[in-house]
Amino acid sequence: MKFFIDTADLDEIREALSWGCLAGVTTNPSLYAKTGGSLSGFEEHMTKIARLCEGLPVSVESCAKTVEDMVADGRRLSALAPNVVVKLPVCAEALAATRTLASEGVRVNMTLVFSAPQALLAANAGARYISPFIGRFDDISEDGLDQLGTVIACVHNYDWAGRNPDDTVEIIAASVRTPHHVTQAALLGADIATVPLAALRKCLRHPLTDQGLTGFDAAWEKVRAQG
Ligand code: E4P
Repeated sequence: MKFFIDTADLDEIREALSWGCLAGVTTNPSLYAKTGGSLSGFEEHMTKIARLCEGLPVSVESCAKTVEDMVADGRRLSALAPNVVVKLPVCAEALAATRTLASEGVRVNMTLVFSAPQALLAANAGARYISPFIGRFDDISEDGLDQLGTVIACVHNYDWAGRNPDDTVEIIAASVRTPHHVTQAALLGADIATVPLAALRKCLRHPLTDQGLTGFDAAWEKVRAQG
């Protein structure tokens, strides 16, 4: 399972890139709003992220409401940089826009997916990535991981050759909040987990690693003292 970072913050992306294991970035309007960015600065900011992550997919979301506007946004956003993936929320208009964009070679990440039927519709329309959300199910006391497993099983049952520019669909486990979500997403066979930096940091640390390191450092000090 690959790791994407779920943020629009350039410093957070720089930090995650420095770890050497980042495979992409997902952004959304809430994450962009958190950076304090303006409407007029949106595309410039997304271009900066795409350049910083050259060669890695960067999802940039359109807030358009009609098929025509989604297609126009998709064309414009995908022209910002070759690694931009256009993110659209699953709905009838977005499916139609995805069909057009996919036929033009534009990669689409279909977001706000909460069910297997939504995911299958997205894959048939030509989505390159599908993002089922985990945490938001948990927020309403439902099992987000159970839903993720169902989506993965249904989508991976089929061959999506000819449907999108890369002939393959990858499932991005989204709305990931904890290391437990990461482990379970991998066990369920998610292709990618998109994870906020705070949760990535929790994935990296373990108290036994810290304890072990303290012990090794103390032992090494003794060795050094002995000369
Ligand atoms: C996915 O691409 C979304 O940006 C994100 O994972 C949503 O997460 P949230 O439910 O924590 O807002």
